[in-house]
Amino acid sequence: MKKFFFTILFLQSFVFLYSQQNKANYDESKIPAYNLPDPLIFNNGSRVTSKEDWIKRRNELYKTFENEVYGIAPQWKGKIIPTEISSDLQAMNGKAIRKEINLKLKNGNKELNVTLLVYLPNSAGPVPVFLGYNFGGNHSVTDEPGISIPTSWMRNDEEDGVSQNKGSEKGRGKSVSQWQVSELLSRGYGLVTLYYGDIDPDFDDGFTNGVHGLYDQKPDQTSWGSVAAWAWGLSRVMDWMETYPSIDSKKVIVIGHSRLGKTALWAGASDTRFAMVISNNSGCGGAALSKRIYGETVGIINTAFPHWFCNNFNKYNEKEAALPVDQHELLAIIAPRPVYVASAEDDQWADPKGEFLACVNASPVYVLLGCKGFPADKMPPVNSPVIGAIGYHIRTGGHDVKLYDWQQYLEFADSHLKNR
Ligand code: GCU
Repeated sequence: MKKFFFTILFLQSFVFLYSQQNKANYDESKIPAYNLPDPLIFNNGSRVTSKEDWIKRRNELYKTFENEVYGIAPQWKGKIIPTEISSDLQAMNGKAIRKEINLKLKNGNKELNVTLLVYLPNSAGPVPVFLGYNFGGNHSVTDEPGISIPTSWMRNDEEDGVSQNKGSEKGRGKSVSQWQVSELLSRGYGLVTLYYGDIDPDFDDGFTNGVHGLYDQKPDQTSWGSVAAWAWGLSRVMDWMETYPSIDSKKVIVIGHSRLGKTALWAGASDTRFAMVISNNSGCGGAALSKRIYGETVGIINTAFPHWFCNNFNKYNEKEAALPVDQHELLAIIAPRPVYVASAEDDQWADPKGEFLACVNASPVYVLLGCKGFPADKMPPVNSPVIGAIGYHIRTGGHDVKLYDWQQYLEFADSHLKNR
């Protein structure tokens, strides 16, 4: 009965979203006049003029994002118990070491198990790694047969062979093109990925499942939504990576696509151990400015996905002008660490121009901190990356992660992290 109820809820939000995608504003001339808050002005109106000031201002901005957008993740005081569950020293035709590691997150008498899939180049370590969630289960990331299928809740999807909310063999290798594992291994990087539903299943269950269940918490206006929960999960993986000698935990690049791109940005803002952040087509609640009201809006996202953000975020449904922060400030609080924002030409729902303008308006903070910032003020042509401490490109094609995107991320990572 409960399952039936959630399926109906899920279908309703899908139909709602589809209707909104056709109705949304895609006309630049219909964007209302809007004022972007200046990241370098304190809430009391005084100006940030030094790096010391910025530390205080950053804190102020971070708190506003917590309270008004993503919600507050509880402190982690639990234990993480890693167990290797499989190992192949000749994976990817001898190119890589592949491991599956179970992390048991134990908080008092409550626990949650998540499974990491780890690929490391077959060379001397420690190596820099990309860390990101997958949408379809670890077994979707490459077509290697040894990778286990998640047992946690999965969205029913005929094409991926998911029914009864359980993953299956049919999903194996389905996302190979989005991960490009051979490419990144041959460039000397490893990959750590996990299924996002292991940390928090992606439906509105009233705050009980996944990692929310590790805490006895009555949800209120500022309680963490799923994006914050997923970001929190990436920090727990980082806790483990810091103990794993083959990984260079000072060179971890957190990456995500779409809702998981929103997650990567929030993880990068929340945890300064991440050396670099990559947002692929993250859109509303990610890299796109909310105040432009172009493509997906705050009201639409909160209605379709009521569990992603904190309850306070609903105050800004159709009232974006009242938002005390905008998403350029999310990029700014990642500074001085490099951040890359990627859009796609046919993904207007995610507002490519709004993502570009977020980069432009985050740049002064990077410059204050002594970095190159973002060397552009006009939208670049397609497939022409702009590279500073903030990187940006708009690729031809739609909402996806392509080899082209990975090639830019690898260049960006090489230039910022390789010889550090
Ligand atoms: C929907 C949603 C977006 C999200 C995307 C995804 O399109 O409206 O905000 O980024 O799903 O995660 O695939």
